[in-house]
Amino acid sequence: MTKVLVTGGTGFIGSHTVVELLQKNYEVVIIDDLSNSSESVLDSIEKIAGVKPEFEKFDLCDKNKLQDFFRRHKDIKAVIHFAAKKAVGESVDNPLLYYRNNLFSFVNLLECMLENAIKFIVFSSSCTVYGEPDYLPVDEHAPIKKAASPYGNTKQICEEILEETISANNEKLEGIALRYFNPTGAHESALIGELPIGIPNNLIPFVTQTAIGKRDKLKVFGGDYETEDGSCIRDFIHVVDLAKAHIIALERMINLKIQSPYEVFNLGTGVGYSVLDVVKTFEKVSGVKLNYEIVGRRDGDIMQMYADTNLANHELGWKAERGLEQMLDTAWKWELALKEKNK
Ligand code: UD1
Repeated sequence: MTKVLVTGGTGFIGSHTVVELLQKNYEVVIIDDLSNSSESVLDSIEKIAGVKPEFEKFDLCDKNKLQDFFRRHKDIKAVIHFAAKKAVGESVDNPLLYYRNNLFSFVNLLECMLENAIKFIVFSSSCTVYGEPDYLPVDEHAPIKKAASPYGNTKQICEEILEETISANNEKLEGIALRYFNPTGAHESALIGELPIGIPNNLIPFVTQTAIGKRDKLKVFGGDYETEDGSCIRDFIHVVDLAKAHIIALERMINLKIQSPYEVFNLGTGVGYSVLDVVKTFEKVSGVKLNYEIVGRRDGDIMQMYADTNLANHELGWKAERGLEQMLDTAWKWELALKEKNK
């Protein structure tokens, strides 16, 4: 069995990826500091996949602990690295927290991989690296713009760290950076999903929390953009489609199909939906009328963003299969399941 380390494996995208790995008979060990997730996710993963992944709780910034971890796990073949802070606003308020956490942890991880001759890494990146794109759909050749937030900057810098480290360590390291568009939805079992702590920043958790009564009203940020209905446009992608792409990326490296030692792929559906499309589609699939109001624009928001997915479709042989209705339906079922659990 091939053993894979998943950092941040109890988080939203991490947990769905762990499920896919276990279902494909990979052995999984998770490192997570549980700063934005719960250990109970491990039981939910076990319920779905029939296997409980190994788990160690610590912060990747602690190099001694990480070195000790690798001494005890000599058989790890590859790493999927999710663990990172990701709240845009928090990163603006506390940049050093983001630089320390997201960069130090990544440097530690790459050093340990090289020390232990672990060759393959999949890195969790974001379409945020494109900033406000000059053309749409945005492809992987689009220029990297100055990041709009320290969070976005950490993704750009980590991509650079990875590319440069790979090029300096010929034959010893290979990596694939996956640039996610807007991940959403939940596992169809409704056993795992997104668990925002506090008030959600992202649209869809805010929608489902409003519908269930946890929030009073959804504010639609901006109704005066130059788009068909005046609201922003995003490329939402189902978390299970996203998770599957990680396994394909991993196998591309393990099975020697990678074309160059460092590759980058966009992961989206290629279809842009507006915020108001999301509201309408949510009402349709859930049957719940959403209390919402169109308000002023949110600082730092990009008008529209959607992916050119050709590279991932042709090179990885991966295509998102789940549409917006399925994303919103599973996100809603997850919210209902959470309510049931917390009764
Ligand atoms: C945000 C981050 C991005 C990050 C991504 C992770 C910003 C500027 N960007 O992207 O760096 O990689 O999350 O998923 O924060 N909206 C509302 N009302 C709400 C919440 C959101 O109208 O209560 C709108 C936003 O204005 C935006 C769209 O919904 O137009 C999507 O917002 P969000 O889910 O926060 O994602 P992004 O801003 O695309």
